[in-house]
Amino acid sequence: MTDFDRVIPRRGTGALKWDGAAARFGEEVLPMWVADMDFAAPEAVQAVLAERVAHPIYGYPWGGTAALAAGANWMERRHGWRPDPAHMLLVSGVVPGLFAAVRAFTETGDGIIVMPPIYPPFLSAVREQGRELLMAPLQRDRNGRYEMDWERLEALLPRARMLLLCSPHNPSGRVWGRAELQHLGELARRQGVLVVSDEIHADLAYAEYPHTPFPSLFPDSLLLSSAGKSFNIAGIGGAFAVLADDRQRHRYAAELRRSQIHEINLFAPIAMAAAWERGGAWQEGLRTYLAANAHHLGQRLAAELPALGYRVPEFGYLAWLDLRALGLDDGAIAQRLRHAGLGLNPGPDFGPAGAGFVRLNFGAPRIVLDEGIDRLCRACG
Ligand SMILES: Cc1ncc(COP(=O)(O)O)c(C=O)c1O
Repeated sequence: MTDFDRVIPRRGTGALKWDGAAARFGEEVLPMWVADMDFAAPEAVQAVLAERVAHPIYGYPWGGTAALAAGANWMERRHGWRPDPAHMLLVSGVVPGLFAAVRAFTETGDGIIVMPPIYPPFLSAVREQGRELLMAPLQRDRNGRYEMDWERLEALLPRARMLLLCSPHNPSGRVWGRAELQHLGELARRQGVLVVSDEIHADLAYAEYPHTPFPSLFPDSLLLSSAGKSFNIAGIGGAFAVLADDRQRHRYAAELRRSQIHEINLFAPIAMAAAWERGGAWQEGLRTYLAANAHHLGQRLAAELPALGYRVPEFGYLAWLDLRALGLDDGAIAQRLRHAGLGLNPGPDFGPAGAGFVRLNFGAPRIVLDEGIDRLCRACG
């Protein structure tokens, strides 16, 4: 069994989260920002990588297709839906895949719907490629639970060519239910809007919130995912797309080739296949550990910072914290966090709906999380 309580120092390993924190926050901070975790990857992944590194020639790789078949089998075991491996494409990463989808299926000036607060590249994929950003902000209830804004979606869909769905949704913490996805898909289909579903966090859905792959309901949608988040191998890179329609898939594949993002590095297929074939037990242990961290964070915040808004997320390791009751602007929040030595993602990075919020990454040993909460209390006290 993996010991998720083990603290593994990462400073000096070239880690963005740790070594890049001082440049990002202007101080040495405890980094609880960018979405990777402070846990060792599954032993099966470490072992195949060590074996490959021991061979001293690092030429062009082969084996991506076999890795995709392992991915399809994994999806079936984990989510009860098996994409046809013939419908899968390799992509260098999920974000490059999102950007490419915008280029492949829309033209300059076309409307694309996103639902903020949202993982920032969803916004830049639209804005920086000259498409019109159509925002349908999620609605937040008194308990901090986010819902889609159906009225707004219905109003925007006739003006849109594409909808970028984050499922599960970073940073709101929601795992969209089957009925919500069904409704969304029907609305989109009625208007001929292509849904691009980024499901990179899906494997980390907690037990009470089963994830539904969007193309299992609507096969004409585009799914993007990877093993990066859920097996903590994000730095290795590599992702995959699923697109069942032959014509659409050829069009997308052509865009991937044109942008030269249709290949992955030598270590990616090896790591992905090992994760999907032999990382299942590790990931189950991880989900249990993360869910316990999520609840622990909730208990401490309720006791020590009751003014803060926090709803235990439904997946993964990202907490979306509502600091608006402190009555501070985002600059003042950032300054207080910096003085307390804590590095969190500022809410406004996730779009205008993020003002007054921060995102905290609790994918770390409990003792590190507790230090982070201590610092958060100092910042907010
Ligand atoms: C929703 C979402 N999509 C994509 C990514 C990154 O994907 P990749 O590293 O494969 O580009 C992240 C990372 O945080 C994410 O949260």
